Amino acid sequence: MEVGIDGIELWAGKLRLDLPGTFAPANGEDPEKYTKGLGLQASSLPDSYEDIVTMGANAAHRLLERKGVSLDEIGRIDVATESAFDRSKPVSTYVAGCLESAHEGSLTTANKGERKFACMAGTQALDDAVNWIRAGRNRGRAALVIATDTALYARDDPGEATQGAGAVAMLVAEDPGLVALGPEQGIGSVDETDFLKPNQQFPSVDGKRSMQVYLARMREALVDFARAGGTTHPDEFALVPFHTPFPAMVQKAAPLGYRHAIRDTEYEEQLADEIGRQPRPEGFESEEAYLSAVKEYTEALTDTDQYGRWYDRTVEPTLAISRQVGNWYTASVHVTRVAGLLEARDAGRELAGAGLLVASYGSGAQAEIHAETVQPGWTDELDGLRIREQLADRREISFEEYERIHDAHNHEESTDIAPLTEPDGEFVFDGWGRMGEREYAFIE
Ligand code: COA
Repeated sequence: MEVGIDGIELWAGKLRLDLPGTFAPANGEDPEKYTKGLGLQASSLPDSYEDIVTMGANAAHRLLERKGVSLDEIGRIDVATESAFDRSKPVSTYVAGCLESAHEGSLTTANKGERKFACMAGTQALDDAVNWIRAGRNRGRAALVIATDTALYARDDPGEATQGAGAVAMLVAEDPGLVALGPEQGIGSVDETDFLKPNQQFPSVDGKRSMQVYLARMREALVDFARAGGTTHPDEFALVPFHTPFPAMVQKAAPLGYRHAIRDTEYEEQLADEIGRQPRPEGFESEEAYLSAVKEYTEALTDTDQYGRWYDRTVEPTLAISRQVGNWYTASVHVTRVAGLLEARDAGRELAGAGLLVASYGSGAQAEIHAETVQPGWTDELDGLRIREQLADRREISFEEYERIHDAHNHEESTDIAPLTEPDGEFVFDGWGRMGEREYAFIE
């Protein structure tokens, strides 16, 4: 039985902050730090009536409408987020309330939960949903998996450069229309202190450490994936979507992945005359000498045409949306899957039956690698997406508006600002209830 993503929908925060054009000059920085150093053009940010519930519910609402799925056909709703505002009541209950207010049917018998492991949680929720169906506990129903985040940092924190806000909703079902998940799974997981929010809204982040931890856990996950029986041969994968906190992070991770993937293959042999064969630990007297040789080999590998062709085909297309929106935390890797598939469709690539190698990461820290198979009819699903129109329709904001919007979303500020955009056929934050709960309304 094939199980996987039957349908997918993205919802971007409705404001656009131009990073090289608006943010860099206001901070006295060189715009190329953003375009070249981080690989980013813009952040998507939430208007004052948007939050993790509205973005998640709007993505799910659009997905259910487009797929013609009624609430009674949903047996499970998992929300992954690292921006939750309630330590007891899960975001999925708020989302379910929104959906029930605008759709026929009921979610009373849908099992609801919330997943937390930094940016990893979206993939973990997807994994849970797939396993629930494979275990035969779904009684023919589908699961709704939503990854939603407002990735905001404290003002003047270096992380401010990589902010973003948005949600991805995925319908997980048997005989899926977009991708089926393979059984092999690789994990690299170690207790790390690179990024955390100990009872605080904005993260404490050691950005440079986080980059090292990302690479180390990815390597472990790749080794574990192979141990689980998964193949990493470059010919097997049309796209390699990575978790993308900012595109330059992926540009650093991709050569390490490729080096691993071509080891002991014809691709390593083809490069032997040009850059030599890969260093093996047994050829060195010390770990230090071995690691230094590996670094040198990886740098030479990155400069080869062979690597360039692989990167341009499998990785670069996946970054097209991230460059325009920044980090969506739990949703980020699911954004890169969609971006890669959209670019491949536009380039006329035929991907039915092709493989995706999906590389997720969450600080704290854990990486996960699994493979997916693109399904026949995959372009029909992509044709329903409106993400490019949504991104083009975002309201451009000035630096002063950015400062006010950041304050409006800061739980410690009481700034109340008028919305900068007009809601249209969507859920909005509508004030506070008697027990401090957030309330929502659907605006026609
Ligand atoms: N032209 C070209 N490149 C430039 C540049 C310029 N004018 N100015 C800076 N750069 C490069 C830097 O060399 C650096 O690249 P490198 O890492 O390859 O050396 C990159 O741009 C970023 O510059 P840097 O000065 O390091 O930026 P920063 O101190 O603002 O920090 C992050 C950048 C990514 C570490 C920071 O934004 C951060 O912590 N983000 C959050 C990361 C996160 O969310 N982690 C957890 C989830 S995985």
